[in-house]
Amino acid sequence: MVPALKYLEAIRSWIFSLEGKFILAAAFSISVIATTSGYFIIHREEVLYKTDAMHQLHALADVSRLMLTNIMVYNEIGAIDNQDLKDYLIYFTINLTERDSRVVSAMVLDNDGTVIANSRLSEHESFHTDDFFNSAMQQLIPVTHETSIGKEEVIILTTPLNISTKKWGALRLVYSKNELNHLIYNLRKEILIIVCIVLVLSLIMIKIVARHLSKPVVALTRMMDGIHSYSDLELEVHFIKRRDELGKLQNSFSWLIKRLQESDREREKAVEKLVQNEKLVALGFLSSGVAHEINNPLGGIMICFQNLLKSVAKTPDNDTLVFAIEDGLRKIKGIVAQLLDFSRSSSTQTKPVQLNDLISRLLLLLRHDIQKRKIEVSLGLSEHLPMVVCDENKIFQVFMNLVINAMQSMEHGGILTISTCCEVGACRISFSDTGEGILPENMPFIFDPFFTTKATGVGTGLGLSVSRGIIEQHDGRFTVESTPGQGATFTIILPDVSTATTEHGVLTQ
Ligand SMILES: Nc1ncnc2c1ncn2[C@@H]1O[C@H](COP(=O)(O)OP(=O)(O)OP(=O)(O)O)[C@@H](O)[C@H]1O
Ligand SMILES: [Mg+2]
Repeated sequence: MVPALKYLEAIRSWIFSLEGKFILAAAFSISVIATTSGYFIIHREEVLYKTDAMHQLHALADVSRLMLTNIMVYNEIGAIDNQDLKDYLIYFTINLTERDSRVVSAMVLDNDGTVIANSRLSEHESFHTDDFFNSAMQQLIPVTHETSIGKEEVIILTTPLNISTKKWGALRLVYSKNELNHLIYNLRKEILIIVCIVLVLSLIMIKIVARHLSKPVVALTRMMDGIHSYSDLELEVHFIKRRDELGKLQNSFSWLIKRLQESDREREKAVEKLVQNEKLVALGFLSSGVAHEINNPLGGIMICFQNLLKSVAKTPDNDTLVFAIEDGLRKIKGIVAQLLDFSRSSSTQTKPVQLNDLISRLLLLLRHDIQKRKIEVSLGLSEHLPMVVCDENKIFQVFMNLVINAMQSMEHGGILTISTCCEVGACRISFSDTGEGILPENMPFIFDPFFTTKATGVGTGLGLSVSRGIIEQHDGRFTVESTPGQGATFTIILPDVSTATTEHGVLTQ
């Protein structure tokens, strides 16, 4: 873009920004207020100055009038002759202009308007009748009017020289407005400077306040602009703490972002779960079909095998073969049972169960395997564990899967720690081992059906998947933590559905 256009664009966007609008509006208001109040102050002071000047002029005229009428009365009664009177009047007018520099000239006029004494000696005998002179003589009051002589602005005051209706003429004072105008000019200059200083200071203040106010809003806007997708919500929101409405806005924004982040995470989890569920449903159908298809012929095979056994001679070779066939059939039966569990086609019967007892029974059942693998069992069973309403067989199966997994992970011995405890509203059962642990890359898949890291024939990869299904049927949760090479901890959290509050029955599937 051309630099000039860029510059114009920057100005345009500043004008339409919050800060720009605020500064312009405030600057406009302050300028209007400052100039109008400056104008009114100047006007008022001008009036006061003029009134004061007029008062002074009238006072001077009044005193002069008194003195002149006195001298004229003396002349009237013959105390002084006409020449003395004239000399005195000339002296008086000159004296007036000398004593007060604002009096440009002073003159005494007779009743016809002829100048009989003038401070400006050259204009002695001129004729000075005008409307102001006539008005003053008729109404017998001082009359003022403003005019200019050459370039000089003046106020001319004409006051009649009379005692009651007896008139001797008039005194005319020409009063210069120079001093008054100078005072007014200085006043205007001072007020203008003050207005400018107030304006500049106000603009600086407005700029600071506008920046302070608009900063968080600008930050918010930038942040909002930066959010284009859900992943952008992960950005950390940092604000300077404020107590005003903007502070509240910041808090609300932070809260909103957190809520959005939470709901985004919840949404992701829900989508994940949905996909998982869909997979499980599909697999469930498949497994259920396969399991039922295998189960019936398997039953037949087992009966036939039992019958066949009756006619087979008992020799060491035959015994080995029979044991191998029986072991194989048991394994197939176990897998079919697990497949049926996975497809959740088996019903769930609930009753109050003491989980500690369930663990003791399990350890008793597996004691030979445990001893054979040189595994030490450490128990941390809570004595205050309440009875939990659950399907005893299924939970037993879950515990069995976890213990077998732990044993399989500790090929060369180790410690199996089983602990139970009850928290507010939930019972926690954890199984820790010191085995090989789970690799981080396998962690997301261990609950997937048919995921196994074990050799073919050792694991089908259904244990954890079935176990999670059972725990979810009980409205519980599974968590797993593991450090590769150090072991794994599987924790089950079952809701504390105590016997006092729940009726026994069949759990929903
Ligand atoms: N305690 C554990 N220590 C280390 N790895 C484990 C542990 N428990 C489970 N795993 C891992 O999780 C995978 C899945 O376990 P899961 O119980 O579902 O299947 P499996 O044990 O392989 O087979 P199955 O239980 O069906 O005989 C295992 O193959 C193993 O890699
Ligand atoms: Mg297993």
